[in-house]
Formats: sequence, C-alpha cells, structure tokens
Amino acid sequence: MKPSLKLALLTSLLAGCAANPQVEKQAALTEAARQAGGGLIKTLGGELKAAMTAGGPATAIGVCKEKAPKIAAEAAQKTGFMIKRVSPKNRNPKGVPDAWESEALASLEQRLAAGEKPETLDMSAVVDTPEGKLFRYAKALPTQAVCLNCHGDPDRLSPEVKARLATEYPNDKAVGYSAGMIRGVLSMKKAM
Ligand code: HEC
Repeated sequence: MKPSLKLALLTSLLAGCAANPQVEKQAALTEAARQAGGGLIKTLGGELKAAMTAGGPATAIGVCKEKAPKIAAEAAQKTGFMIKRVSPKNRNPKGVPDAWESEALASLEQRLAAGEKPETLDMSAVVDTPEGKLFRYAKALPTQAVCLNCHGDPDRLSPEVKARLATEYPNDKAVGYSAGMIRGVLSMKKAM
C-alpha cells in the first residue's frame, strides 16, 4: 500500500473512532480505571510492606483483611467505580468472580502465556445490562515474591500464618501460587 493511502486509511479509522462517543468514553474510563487501580495497588502494597516489616506476615493478614477493602472503598468513593478483588481461588468468601470477570481472567491468562508483562495486563469492555450500558475493567494482580508468604505453597507457609488463615478463612482456596502467576483481578465497573 502507498504510504499516502495508508495514512488516509489510518486517518479515516481514527476519525471513525473519534466519531463514536461510546468508544471515546470507554477509552476515557479505561484511563481513569488504570489510574485508580494503579493508585490503589500502590497504597495497598505500601501498607502490606509496612505491616510485614513491623510484625511479620501473620500480623499483616489484618492489612489484607481490613485495610484492603477499606482502601478499595475509599478509591471507589473518590472515583465512582465499584471496585473489588476477585479470584477463582478466592480467600475472601465474597471474592468469587462473576461471568465477565472469569472470561476476563481467562483472556488475561492467555495474554500472559503469550508473553505479555503481568504488571500491565488489563482489559476493558462495555456490556449491555437490563439497566443500561455498563463499563467493566479488569486488571491482573500478579503474584510477587512477597505474596508467597500468604498465597504460596501451603507446606511452606509459616505455622503462624497457617493457623491464622485456618481460623479466619476456613474455606480458603488462595494458596499454591508461585511468582509470576495471576493471583486474581482487580475488577471495576461503572454505569455509562
Ligand atoms: C500477609 C498475608 C498476605 C500477603 C503477603 C498477601 N495477601 Fe492477598 N490476601 C490475604 C488475605 C488475608 C486475603 C483475604 C482478604 C479479605 O478478607 O478480603 C487476601 C486476598 C487477596 C485477594 C482477593 C481475592 C481472594 O482470594 O479473596 C487478592 C487478589 C490477593 N490477596 C492478592 C495478593 C497479592 C497480589 C499479593 C502480593 C502483592 C498478596 N495478596 C499478598 C493475605 C495476604
């Protein structure tokens, strides 16, 4: 294809996008979700690190239990997104993925297997619901070395962590991960 033709095609494609308000809105919401999600993960990571240094992983379980939902709720209030963390191998009994989240996770897993970096893996969509159009966003939460203290091989968890998890999460499925795996997704949604 001639370069001028290529350019004309690209321009018309871009113009096509710009003329579609839903596509524009989705792009803007995706950007907002990335910002909110990135901030939330950073805040949570900082809290986790501080608690681990101060009292070790058994104490830091409290950060995940009380602070994580609180930080998410604060971010939700600030941004208007509904925010939660979900995983097919959930620890929090309420962390079960819905159909869209399961599909999103499967596609993020595929992209990870195809060589994409886990830190930047995310996706968004606009779905039709009986209440109208809903913006949805999923960001992969990759398992890092620090996560293994509480989500790694069950035989290698400290006895304190094991005991605490057994009492607080009797139906815990969130162990057996290794570094680089996707632990779950940060899921956000907002009516359009
Ligand atoms: C100190 C122990 C601890 C560490 C370290 C830890 N987690 Fe968790 N994680 C928990 C607990 C406890 C919960 C359940 C929180 C709740 O009750 O909502 C949890 C829940 C989650 C969930 C929500 C889904 C579910 O299973 O209920 C995700 C996702 C998650 N953790 C990812 C991570 C990632 C990624 C890291 C590393 C960056 C990490 N965790 C490090 C203890 C930990």
